[in-house]
Parts: sequence; structure tokens; C-alpha cells
Amino acid sequence: MITKSQIDTEKLRANAPFFARVLAVNNTEQTLLFTLENLGRLPKGFDGEVFLPLFAHSNPKIRCLAVKNVGKLKDEAFFEAVSSFARAEKNTLSRREAVSAIGRLKTEKAIPVLSQFLTDPDPKIILQAVRGLLCFKEHPEVQQCLTPLCEHPNELLREHVTQALAPVRASESIAHSRRKLPHSISPTFLKNVVVCADVSEALQTIPAESVHLTFTSPPYYNARDYTIFESYEAYLEFLVAVFAETHRITKEGRFLVLNTSPVIVPRISRAHASKRYAIPYDIHPRLTEIGWEFIDDITWVKPDYAAKNRNGGFFQHRKPLGYKANSVTESVMVYRKKTDKLLDWNMRQYDAETIEASRILGDYDKTNVWQINPSADKVHPAVFPVELAVRVIQFYSFKGDLVFDPFGGSGTVGQAAMALERYFLLCEKEAEYVERAMQRLDASLFSPEQPPRSLSLAELNTEERRNHKP
Ligand SMILES: C[S@@+](CC[C@H](N)C(=O)[O-])C[C@H]1O[C@@H](n2cnc3c(N)ncnc32)[C@H](O)[C@@H]1O
Repeated sequence: MITKSQIDTEKLRANAPFFARVLAVNNTEQTLLFTLENLGRLPKGFDGEVFLPLFAHSNPKIRCLAVKNVGKLKDEAFFEAVSSFARAEKNTLSRREAVSAIGRLKTEKAIPVLSQFLTDPDPKIILQAVRGLLCFKEHPEVQQCLTPLCEHPNELLREHVTQALAPVRASESIAHSRRKLPHSISPTFLKNVVVCADVSEALQTIPAESVHLTFTSPPYYNARDYTIFESYEAYLEFLVAVFAETHRITKEGRFLVLNTSPVIVPRISRAHASKRYAIPYDIHPRLTEIGWEFIDDITWVKPDYAAKNRNGGFFQHRKPLGYKANSVTESVMVYRKKTDKLLDWNMRQYDAETIEASRILGDYDKTNVWQINPSADKVHPAVFPVELAVRVIQFYSFKGDLVFDPFGGSGTVGQAAMALERYFLLCEKEAEYVERAMQRLDASLFSPEQPPRSLSLAELNTEERRNHKP
């Protein structure tokens, strides 16, 4: 049996007879697979001919690895062999490797071959062909064959091609970026502010791309006195309008974290059933539609004692269909403002000192199940725990960022933000809760250079106008 170190040694020695022997088509599948998987980087001048007989092997994994290794050579001599293989290959993984190998050649003669794969049934193969073709995106024939993909049923493909072909209006985007504040900076007039107003109105005053993170728990549909909506649809529409505006005021590629859970609207009499509304599931497709990209679903788990007991009847009668689970969980859904930029781009917008100071040190929750005890407040009936806000803010923002909560309640997000040396911007329509929030924020141990302020809508408008003056 050959070993990895033997493969490495013979590669260095350019021992062609050795590789011809171990990669002979009649060798055992085990030897072939082991060798193909462990070849790693191939040195210049490696004899790629040894792989060609394996293109006809009955094991698709061997065919796939053979063509992958040919691809590593980036040698135009294999263009015809790989193109014929790609056209004939039925296995999608092997076909994809072949199309990738053709693209890696970066040769203009690959354009007609790659174009043939733009109608492949597997979108991943089309994407691979698109990648190869985009090296020549200035060619009119390439633009012509890629343009129809902007209407392709597959969403990733559509987005990728649309972005890649979008004309770069350089002068416009430079002017826009000159007007914009740098990514890590937010308007000062919004820092450490609690706005006492309806969030739909307050949002109109907040400039685009002002906040770095939104963490919120919206009002539960008609579950408490403080929010009464005419219908569930009206409730969802209200939330969608708020999160569409939140999208506008969020900086490129930054996060929205939403804490919700299904609610029960109690039955109106013993002759009626109660109604359960699956808020997280109903709001999710609406959020993705308005440009929030789904990132993660975290489940906040509370101890059993925290759940309202729904088992009374079932505990007695034990009849099927009557089972009702006590709910000890809430959803913490994570979304990112859709962008073609990677997270690395967002991280690069901060200086080394800020990145260092924002690192999450020590132990942290590695799964998407977070066990956190609930909290209660003497004034507000539905607060979330500071610990939940601390985790979200730590994971999804940097020091000095502006954290927004459109449904600020008693100010939990503000308290956590201040403790973590971030700024906060809260909105809350009930004066009583704003007062409570200010008590909590003023009592905070930290004395930031931007002391907490509460503003009415009119005051916020005045501040915004002042902010615009040169
Ligand atoms: C679930 S509570 C948030 C509690 C908060 N997370 C805390 O820990 O204190 C939702 C809050 O949204 C507020 N609210 C409801 N509709 C609003 C609106 N249109 N504008 C601003 N606040 C609103 C309610 O008064 C309530 O305080």
C-alpha cells in the first residue's frame, strides 16, 4: 500500500513511471482513490497524461478526481480531452469539475465550450461556466450569452450574473461614497438617544446607512394591551414597513437580529378555540423579500418554570390530539443587509485597535441553542434579558457602533450597548416605558462622552436639520 509521504517524495522526484503504475486504470479503486485524493499541488511539468485513461473509469468519484487533478495543471494541452469529457459526463460532480478545469485555463477558445453549459440542468454547473466566462465579460458574445441568465429561475445564479454584468457607474458611486459617512461612523445626533414616538414616524427622520446593528423584539400580535392591530395581516404589514425602513438606515452588509415567538390569542368563549400565530415563520419570507438575507436561526431556551402551563387538560385526560407543549423557546433570527460584499469587507472597515478591542474572548455559545433565564421588570411587562442583548451585540457589532432598537421598551438594548461601549438608538412610543428606559440608562455605571438623552419626534427632526447644515 502506498503512503502520502511516498506520493510527496515521488512528486518531488518527478517520477513519472511511479505515477503511471499507481494510477494505472486496472489498479484497485482503493489505490486509485488514495493516490488521486493525496496528490495535492502538482509540480510544473507533472505528466497529466496519466489521468486521461481514468476519465473512462466506471467509478464516478475516480473520474471526478482525475479531471480535478488535470484542472490543477492549467495546461491548454488538455483542453480538448477535458471538453469532450465534460460534454459526455453524466455525473454532475464530475461534470462540474470538468467545467471548472476548462474555466481555469482562462483561454478565449473556451468561450464556446463554456457557453454550452449555460443550459445545464444543474445551476452549480452553470455557475461554474459563468465564472469561467466572466474572465471575458468585455466580449460582446459573452455578454450576449450571459444576459438571459439575469432571468434564470435559480436565485443565486440570477443575482450573481446581474451583479457581474451591472454597469459600474463609476462617477456616480464615487460621488455617493464621498457624501456617505465612513462605514464605522454614525451621525452623532443619533448616539445614545431614546426617541419617544411611533417608530414608523421616527424612522423617516433617520438618514440612510446610519446604524450598524438592529436588535429588537417587536410587539407580540395583540398579546398585550400595548399593541392592538385590526388583523394579523395588518400587524405583519406594519412590521414589514418598519423593517424595510430599518433596511434603509442600516449600513451595507450589517445585521438585523429579531427576537419573536408564536403567540396565542385566547379563545373568546369555551365554544371557541384559541388561535396560535406563528410570527417567526410568517415574518421570515417577508424579510427576505425586502432585502434581508437569512443568516442564522438561534433558539433562546428558558428553564421549564418560565413556561406558561398549557398541559392542564391533557395531563388529566391523556387523549391524543389534545397535547399542548409548554413553550420554553423563542426565536432569535439573524439577517444581513444583502450585499455582494463579503463579511471580510465589513471587518476591514475598522482599524486594528477597534477590532482588537471588540474580540469575543473566553468561552462562548458554540451552538444555536442559547440557554438564558428570562427577566422581569417592575414597569415593563415584556422585557428580554440583558444577557441576550449582550450576546447579540457582542457577536454582531464592533465597539463604537450604533445599535438600534425600534421597539425599545424599557431600554434593555441601550443598557447592553452602553456596557459594551457601543452607542444606542431606541424608539418607544409609550412615554411610561421611555421614562423607565431613561432611569435604567442614567443609572448605568458607565459615563459615556455622549450621555443618554430622550427626544420627542419634533426634537429629533430639529437635530436632524441641524445635522444637515454645513
Ligand atoms: C416586546 S416589547 C420590547 C421590550 C424590550 N425589548 C425590553 O427589553 O424592554 C415591544 C415594545 O414596542 C413598543 N411599541 C409597540 N408599537 C410601537 C410603535 N409603533 N412604535 C414604537 N414603539 C412601539 C411597545 O410599547 C413595547 O414597549
